[in-house]
Amino acid sequence: MSHDAPTRSVPTRRMDFEPSLAEVPRYFAADGDLIVCHLMAALSSVFPDGEDFFVRSVRTYRDRVEDPVLKRQVAGFIGQESVHGREHRAFNDRLDQLGYPTRRYEARTRRGLAFRERAASPISNLAATAALEHFTATLAELVLTSEDARHAIGHPAVRDLFVWHALEESEHKAVAFDVYRAVGGSERLRVLTMNQVTLGFLVGMTAQVVASLLRDPATYRRGNLRRSLRAFRTSPLANRQVWRQLREYNRRDFHPDDRDTTALVEEWRATLFGEQGTLNDRLTSPAA
Ligand SMILES: [Fe+2]
Ligand SMILES: [Fe+2]
Repeated sequence: MSHDAPTRSVPTRRMDFEPSLAEVPRYFAADGDLIVCHLMAALSSVFPDGEDFFVRSVRTYRDRVEDPVLKRQVAGFIGQESVHGREHRAFNDRLDQLGYPTRRYEARTRRGLAFRERAASPISNLAATAALEHFTATLAELVLTSEDARHAIGHPAVRDLFVWHALEESEHKAVAFDVYRAVGGSERLRVLTMNQVTLGFLVGMTAQVVASLLRDPATYRRGNLRRSLRAFRTSPLANRQVWRQLREYNRRDFHPDDRDTTALVEEWRATLFGEQGTLNDRLTSPAA
């Protein structure tokens, strides 16, 4: 299958969500759902340093990319991930004020990734980036296609942040992957790294959410956790389709564009940044 890189544009949009994030309450998820609150907080805590790592691992190979279209997409990718990091840090600061352990998790992520960078080769770090980008692309597609998932996020300021992030993850979902291919990364290392990353991500995330729940007094309120666990079992995140989509990455000759999300991206670009775009007022400068 040929993949037409020129059709994909990866614009850098400078955003500012901070003023609206200041109004986020402690239990911001729909119905104050405990697990969703702590899961969103845990995800947001790993994003900024994770995204810095993605940027560094792609930047290492930037000069070896010859295709001018992919080169432009790399610049867009770096721009988008930098803004994501900054806006999620603003959310993490708010979560810290509300009592979530986001600072500690940010620091842990930073140390863990710094260790990986020292211990593993640059191509393995790029493979990890491509693999994690498949995670974010899969979660992004869930957020953009499932009304239930968007509703579950809860408070509009948090929903706006995650929907904007989801749109951009979909826009640049193939960039790290294409760089990995362009510089000769092997299929074997790609799949091997995905398996490591899946294990690490699931174990790490679960541990983080459990530890975060344990230090929240609301967890010990009668029936609270049970109600949340029951809701989680039928939530869009626990859907088998998400898991199947993640595993597609291990298929021979997989490419992120095998799932055509062009129409979805177009639809959300118009909704968020079209003439009547709902997030135009968060743009601090026109998209570059
Ligand atoms: Fe991102
Ligand atoms: Fe990304």
